[in-house]
Amino acid sequence: MYDPHRCFTIRRVVPEGRAGVTLVLDGDLEAKPGQFVMVWLPGIEERPFAVVSERPLMLSVQVVGPFTRALASRREGERLWVRGPYGRGFALRGRRHLLIGGGSGIASLALLAEKALAQGDEVRVALGARTAEALLLVGHLKTLGCELLLATEDGSAGVKGTVIEAVQPLLAGRWPEQAYACGPRPMLRAAIREARRCGIPCQVSLEEVMKCGLGVCGHCHCGGWLVCQDGPVFEAGEVEALLEVEEALGPLPRG
Ligand SMILES: Cc1cc2nc3c(=O)[nH]c(=O)nc-3n(C[C@H](O)[C@H](O)[C@H](O)COP(=O)(O)OP(=O)(O)OC[C@H]3O[C@@H](n4cnc5c(N)ncnc54)[C@H](O)[C@@H]3O)c2cc1C
Ligand code: FES
Repeated sequence: MYDPHRCFTIRRVVPEGRAGVTLVLDGDLEAKPGQFVMVWLPGIEERPFAVVSERPLMLSVQVVGPFTRALASRREGERLWVRGPYGRGFALRGRRHLLIGGGSGIASLALLAEKALAQGDEVRVALGARTAEALLLVGHLKTLGCELLLATEDGSAGVKGTVIEAVQPLLAGRWPEQAYACGPRPMLRAAIREARRCGIPCQVSLEEVMKCGLGVCGHCHCGGWLVCQDGPVFEAGEVEALLEVEEALGPLPRG
């Protein structure tokens, strides 16, 4: 069924270095961690974004092209339209959680951190980007009370290297009872491999191209899954083979 859009007004625009912005909206939206909404800018397009926080609804935008540029240039008092939330979210398991985010992928993990901390669990969040300026949501995660591990390719924040190198000692020491990852495909593959090698169960969120978000149009079809509906969150074991095949053969046919 097609949900009607809800109109929200932007209450606050929080700059996120050179990466983009976080938009704080004027209403609430209940969601499970890892679920997403479709954001519509009339006359431009509609695109998927993670629910960063529910009360009030917050969205984080990493500028990568025309839609995200348009969304990130919205000002306080301007409106946008949202439908959802959609998809299968993360399941919180255990009491010690390691969240691993690359690029805009951290937006899909922020609500998970908030909910885990609210129930008194231990949360460590590892964030990776090219440079310090490209890291999203650092301020928000610090405000929540997360323990942060930063990794940048140029060493301008945290450890110099990949986010997987940064979390390797925690995984090897079996600190987390569960790992959760969202980010670019090479990062996801590395997270799945490293978690499996260390015997840590892992859930991953796949960022696929989406149009309807409802399991209708087929745009997000990938390896037998409709990612908008069957995912975007999967158990690592469900998608490990798919990601390995993609690495060997390149992206599989979509749609
Ligand atoms: C479930 C999910 C949650 C997401 N959450 C966030 C988030 O919280 N914050 C954020 O900044 N980004 C998020 N994204 C990615 C965001 O939707 C894309 O960056 C955005 O659509 C790019 O649009 P563009 O016009 O700026 O760039 P374009 O130039 O159109 O594309 C740049 C890249 O963005 C991706 N992309 C393009 N079209 C789509 C589409 N229809 N659906 C998904 N990805 C697309 C492709 O990888 C493409 O190479 C999410 C994606 C998914 C699938
Ligand atoms: S985006 Fe249309 S089926 Fe998934």
